[in-house]
Amino acid sequence: MTTRRLLLTILTATAITASAQQTAMPQVFIYCPGERDGLHIAQQTEAGWTDLGQLCSSDYGQWGAEKRMYHPSLARAKDGSWRLVFQVNDLSPMLAAAYSRDLVTWRPQDYPRMTTRQCLKPVVFANDEGTFDIYYKTKDGDKRWTRASADFRLFARDEQSQIDEAAWTRDTATVGGALREGCLFEVTPQELKRVTDHFEAMRQDARLSSERMHDDARNSAMPKTACEATLSLTGTEKAISDKLIGVFFEDISYAADGGLYAELIQNRDFEYTPRDHRGWTATTAWSSSQPIQVVQVDPLSANNPHYAVVGEDTIYNEGWDGIAVKQGARYDFSMFVRNVRTGEEGKAPRKDFIVQLTDSLGNVLAQAKVKTEGDAWQRYEAVLKAKQTCDKARLALIGVKAQRAGIDMVSLFPQETFMNRKNGLRKDLAETIAALKPKFVRFPGGCMSHGQGLANIYHWQHTIGPLEQRKPDFNIWNYHQTRGLGFYEYFQFCEDIGAEPLPVLAAGVPCQNSANDRNGVGGQQGGIPMEEMPAYIQELMDLIEWANGDPATSRWAKMRADAGHPAPFNLKYIGIGNEDIISTVFEERYEMICKAIRQRHPEIKICGTVGPFHTPSADYIEGWDFTRRHPELQYMVDEHYYESTGWFMHHRDYYDDYNRKLPKVYLGEYAASTQARRPNVETALAEALYLTDVERNGDVVEMTSYAPMLAKDGHHNWNPDMIYFSNTEVRPTPAYDVQRLFSLYSGDRYEATQLSGIADSLKHRLGASVVRDSKTGRRYLKLINALPVPLNLTLQGIDIPAGAIAEGFDGQPEDQSVRMKYEPLQTDGNTVVLPPYAIRVVNL
Ligand code: AHR
Repeated sequence: MTTRRLLLTILTATAITASAQQTAMPQVFIYCPGERDGLHIAQQTEAGWTDLGQLCSSDYGQWGAEKRMYHPSLARAKDGSWRLVFQVNDLSPMLAAAYSRDLVTWRPQDYPRMTTRQCLKPVVFANDEGTFDIYYKTKDGDKRWTRASADFRLFARDEQSQIDEAAWTRDTATVGGALREGCLFEVTPQELKRVTDHFEAMRQDARLSSERMHDDARNSAMPKTACEATLSLTGTEKAISDKLIGVFFEDISYAADGGLYAELIQNRDFEYTPRDHRGWTATTAWSSSQPIQVVQVDPLSANNPHYAVVGEDTIYNEGWDGIAVKQGARYDFSMFVRNVRTGEEGKAPRKDFIVQLTDSLGNVLAQAKVKTEGDAWQRYEAVLKAKQTCDKARLALIGVKAQRAGIDMVSLFPQETFMNRKNGLRKDLAETIAALKPKFVRFPGGCMSHGQGLANIYHWQHTIGPLEQRKPDFNIWNYHQTRGLGFYEYFQFCEDIGAEPLPVLAAGVPCQNSANDRNGVGGQQGGIPMEEMPAYIQELMDLIEWANGDPATSRWAKMRADAGHPAPFNLKYIGIGNEDIISTVFEERYEMICKAIRQRHPEIKICGTVGPFHTPSADYIEGWDFTRRHPELQYMVDEHYYESTGWFMHHRDYYDDYNRKLPKVYLGEYAASTQARRPNVETALAEALYLTDVERNGDVVEMTSYAPMLAKDGHHNWNPDMIYFSNTEVRPTPAYDVQRLFSLYSGDRYEATQLSGIADSLKHRLGASVVRDSKTGRRYLKLINALPVPLNLTLQGIDIPAGAIAEGFDGQPEDQSVRMKYEPLQTDGNTVVLPPYAIRVVNL
């Protein structure tokens, strides 16, 4: 835009403002009160400028360190829609750009890449032909500009600009006593009403969502004596998904290494680095009286370049918070050794090791000898049998002679793993998951799948094959992934527990919360470059081939067969993307991936994503818009929301008006929480209430999974979680019990019921659902009473067989563990008496 045109624009805007003042059009002031406060709108009233609330916030970069907004500038298109640009920081070669029709709903932000390192104080102006010009400054004072397409998705290469300084003239207003810079606009009364209605709706929603069972004694709306209600079958039924309850396994909070993966040696590959965790090195978890030498010459594998060279000094491994051993149990020890040549011609160097498990006093709990020979890498094995139980043992490797040797992949597994598999899973944890009888397992993440930056995107093929050749990497959750628990092990686990595998891989973009790379590019980092996308898409094709192909004709399938599984794994679903920001960068890549899979593997059901939050979040709205535009591309989309118990109790109609003709829903991550940040009776009952409605909407909701599933004591990245564990204990929570009840007592037909005879204001605290399994003919009734008083529930048309045992629990809202009850329902004729805060499930 020329300076002349720009000044004309400014003058025209001023003229509009002046004429608007004559006709008293409402004025709004749009500004950012603080870098972390997002974009706010203020309305002019007789009392001055009054802040109405936040319109949107920065989604750029890392949580905590980033997500900042500076110098927002807005322009209006001829059709009244809005364009926003803002500065994200003072180093990145990008600015933020967003679009809104009504100021309320914003398209997810794009971060167009500029050629200069800093993009300071961007300002945007509308052009007559529908495009927009954006000007910004660099640190050294240069002015540059770019042109944006009308939809604000395409941005031209930036160029030097001679624009007048007047382009940066800002409006000012005093809001809440502080003088602010921003943009002044006049809007129509209807436009303003849309905004104020939105804020009012948000306030009302927040009020409902703050309802807590914990506060019931003080809540005058809650009854003080037993309540009566009637539950009747309406006589209508429908088909529902038979895969409603599954699990989501993410390597978060030490769920994999140090958790489900039964390996007892930490940093077995000497590959820890400070990238995994600040302060970690190749010798973390190892110790010795002398410094441990770590080298990279002639490594065991290019993917595992580091190994230790040991002589006579004993080296110890502390395991993960110690190694828990059980008296009488056997442990498989193994390591790769390569003796250093001694110079004696023709004589193979040899070295013997004593391998011990010792307690904190040095008492030997188990011992074996390993004899090694030769200067080529070779794997050696021994079995250790524990004489005593010890929760915090350590491994000692004693070099018998001064002869030096390289050691790598030092490993110790209990022989007793889940299904006794080699390189297997921790038995107690895997059995706890298996007891849920999940219909599917989503893995390996979460944020872990799309990773911290482009270089950390999870590539499934790095996780298969011989352990020493797998490619370890850092974990977005601030620790290390050995990839010992890789795709082969995940698929095997699914098969072992009768669950469908649902692998989730990146949609060509890393996690939107990624930190800046060395070029200062954070967030989705522009996605995998377009020229590399064909190779990335091929990786996804290779996965399908590896899982389902014929070893006789496919080299990928042959790898599966060579690893011990000649039969196909029968992969049916693939997840593409994980709660991504639905930016232009995302959509372009996601569409490419889906089209390629649909074309080459129409039998595979694609699960897409609609962002990290429920309606009315920007990503949810754009994700569903994209789905409506491309219904043929995906079978279902993954929704995520972590919410308060009040939210779950007051949004039980969430799926009622979903369009049944569009792709289905996978509620892939959800959990109710309170300030306690631990599952308790209150959160579990809120989830149970919600799940009765998910069953009712089981014709549109195909799958659900609580998240996260596992968390190791002392290593929580996230709370609440479904199952907490230490090295010796597994502690399922009430959330687990609810998942188990809904999974075990599931069906593929839903028989509609109606609740009556109780005040509407209490109905959100009661849940009931009748489902039937058409294969077994079994029918199940689930009843939930989340009131603080007993419920006398009269059943009409529902007969409880005499002596039928109901399974469930009750307790106080704060109880973090419950005792499952197996007892006949308390009945009085056809009236069932449910205790306060209770769930019961009965086989009809
Ligand atoms: O479940 C924990 C995390 O929550 C997942 O990694 C991510 O998808 C979500 O933000």
